[in-house]
Amino acid sequence: MGIIYSETTKEFHLYNDMISYIIQVLPNLQLGNLYYGKRIRHKSDFTYLLEGRHRSLAVYTKEKEYFFSPQYTRMEYPCTGTGDYREPAFEVDQEDGSRIVCLEYQSYRIYKGKEKLKDLPAVYVESEKEAETLEITLTDSLLQLDCIMQYTIFKDYPAIARSVKFCNRGEKILRLGRVFSASVDLPDAGYDMVQLSGAWSRERKVIVRPLSIGTQGINSRHGISSAEQNPFLVLKRPGADELQGEVYGFSLIYSGNHMEQVEVDTCHMARVQIGIHPEGFEWQLLNGETFQSPEAILVYSQQGLNGMSQVYHKLYRNRLVRGLWRDRERPILINNWEATGAAFTEEKILTIAKNGKALGMEMFVLDDGWFGKRDDDFSGLGDWYVTNNAKLPGGIKGLAEKVMELGMQFGLWFEPEMVNKDSDLFRSNPDWILCAPGRTPSPSRNQYILDFTRKEVVDYIYGMMEKILSEAPISYVKWDMNRYMTECYSITKKPQEQGKVMHRYILGVYGLYERLLKRFPNILFESCSSGGARFDPGMLYYAPQTWTSDDTDAMERVKIQYGTSYLYPLCTMGAHVSAVPNLQVGRVTPLETRGNVAQFGVFGYELDLGGLSDQERKIIREQVEFAKKHRSLIRTGDFYRLQSPFEENDAAWMVVSEDKKEALVGFYRMLGVPNDAWIRLRLAGLDQEMDYMIDEEPSVLYGGDELMQVGMVIQKEALCNQGGDYSSKIYYLEVSK
Ligand code: GLA
Repeated sequence: MGIIYSETTKEFHLYNDMISYIIQVLPNLQLGNLYYGKRIRHKSDFTYLLEGRHRSLAVYTKEKEYFFSPQYTRMEYPCTGTGDYREPAFEVDQEDGSRIVCLEYQSYRIYKGKEKLKDLPAVYVESEKEAETLEITLTDSLLQLDCIMQYTIFKDYPAIARSVKFCNRGEKILRLGRVFSASVDLPDAGYDMVQLSGAWSRERKVIVRPLSIGTQGINSRHGISSAEQNPFLVLKRPGADELQGEVYGFSLIYSGNHMEQVEVDTCHMARVQIGIHPEGFEWQLLNGETFQSPEAILVYSQQGLNGMSQVYHKLYRNRLVRGLWRDRERPILINNWEATGAAFTEEKILTIAKNGKALGMEMFVLDDGWFGKRDDDFSGLGDWYVTNNAKLPGGIKGLAEKVMELGMQFGLWFEPEMVNKDSDLFRSNPDWILCAPGRTPSPSRNQYILDFTRKEVVDYIYGMMEKILSEAPISYVKWDMNRYMTECYSITKKPQEQGKVMHRYILGVYGLYERLLKRFPNILFESCSSGGARFDPGMLYYAPQTWTSDDTDAMERVKIQYGTSYLYPLCTMGAHVSAVPNLQVGRVTPLETRGNVAQFGVFGYELDLGGLSDQERKIIREQVEFAKKHRSLIRTGDFYRLQSPFEENDAAWMVVSEDKKEALVGFYRMLGVPNDAWIRLRLAGLDQEMDYMIDEEPSVLYGGDELMQVGMVIQKEALCNQGGDYSSKIYYLEVSK
């Protein structure tokens, strides 16, 4: 790994064993990209990679010099108004009405390791040896505006972290109108674009489409990353599949509005851009002020989509997730939401907890309904203390202690960013919500959004949470956020500051998380947003796991978890077994299948354990034992998608331990098939040379090569439900000793 700078050619070559990323200072002193992809050997001059030719209509930098035109060059951070007619990476509104900007190269700095991003989540290193960072300073000398481009290359990952920082050194007021975290020009557009799109209860479906001329992309204007579009985009060669082929991933570590787009020009170059959504964003910079963009993580893989996903999984699991829980097994929890809703009694709660304990579960989580006046979703949000003693006679402390006495840990639900009008908080501070003067705030789930751009608001919420978390033995917090944003206006800000509100809101959320993590470093946080509407890398920096979806139907979950795994490791996906008929789709799937899907995530339960039959109790006890035995493998192993539920009736995936000595294979059948084919499932990631035992028939040995080339036979009779609708099975493979 290293970063080489050549003074003569003004080229920067960032490389490790897997990738090369080459930047050059162009003839107009802007930055250009010469190459990004598989590692190539260094040489002293790559200038020939700069495409240059005289073309009519093209704009040039100097008279009589027809080689270099911004329009036909791969720009590193494209400016506006000087001849590059494609999408700019940033915009600056100036006092005189001009939007023309020209950033020219000034200087660079290379250092070992990686510095933190101020107030923002980002990938980190634990030793300077893990990464090297390049900072290039570009300046618009007329505006006295600096743009510091930040690049980190990692030793062990084919990944580059990119972000930018703007600093106004001049006297004039500048307004940043868009600031993408990264803009990458690729020399051709022969790719399919892959995105994770969905909606509430059906998050992160895999959508694939070929690139074509024009601009195509996804975004969120919802105020948070959203269930509709994840801040993530992939370009893959049309021939690439899960195991082979060239793939580029672009992921944004951010939880607010975002935009990912690819512009294909008529010379078939592809410009990929990722960052904060420009709409509603306007950042005024006064003299001496800076703006730091969120971080984008670029991954290159030659091992297809699984190869790309595994890089993101390892990087995010080990160097984005932080704290005590990063390397720990997460407790198997039982959550009361689907069993009771908000209208529960303490007796009912303790019965669920007792049953959970008897079945081997380790933590009870009390969901919505414990605070203020809250039996439904019309009131109470904002009052984070117990007022209803009939419901919880000993308060949260009393209940938590009783749960602890059962030998279980205790977890609690909060929705810190929200308020109902029917709450003490709103009655005393009706102007604490986001709302524009003279306008009526739009309701969603009868709740409104607290103005987290205001310190006094965040301080007040912190005070309430700190009190309850320090008084009661609480080991886990589920932090929910159950509506999208509207009327994004902060009454305490000046008109020219309103364009900062959405980003400042997210910084307010990050700030509150950070304070709570400092005060309670042992608490495990799980983020949630009506299921997975804020499942993004930004959240993972604070909360190591996220509630993947409110849809716990096993068949829907196969799809949701499969799509989510494109970017996110299994140890970040909350996955629970719930009751049937399923609340969202009314489907009745076997208990075994519900367990077999949830095992490939952070395993838990979400149902009334009271009315179970003996057979169901037996199955659940076995599931819990299985989870305890294999959760370390699930957390740390390499995950492979084998067969897509979006394409086939049977879906499959597997996890292989890092030493390749054990593996778990999950096989899922959507609908039963009469007189179906003999299924041989080709496995992946095993050691070619090793022999494996499959738990089904320990007397027979299978070569790793054989299992990957010929396949593992799936006997439909061995599946639960004998291969009928919603049948499934998990196979455990172990190397023969
Ligand atoms: C959201 C969450 C659920 C549950 C409810 C409580 O919908 O996704 O898991 O916590 O809120 O209101």
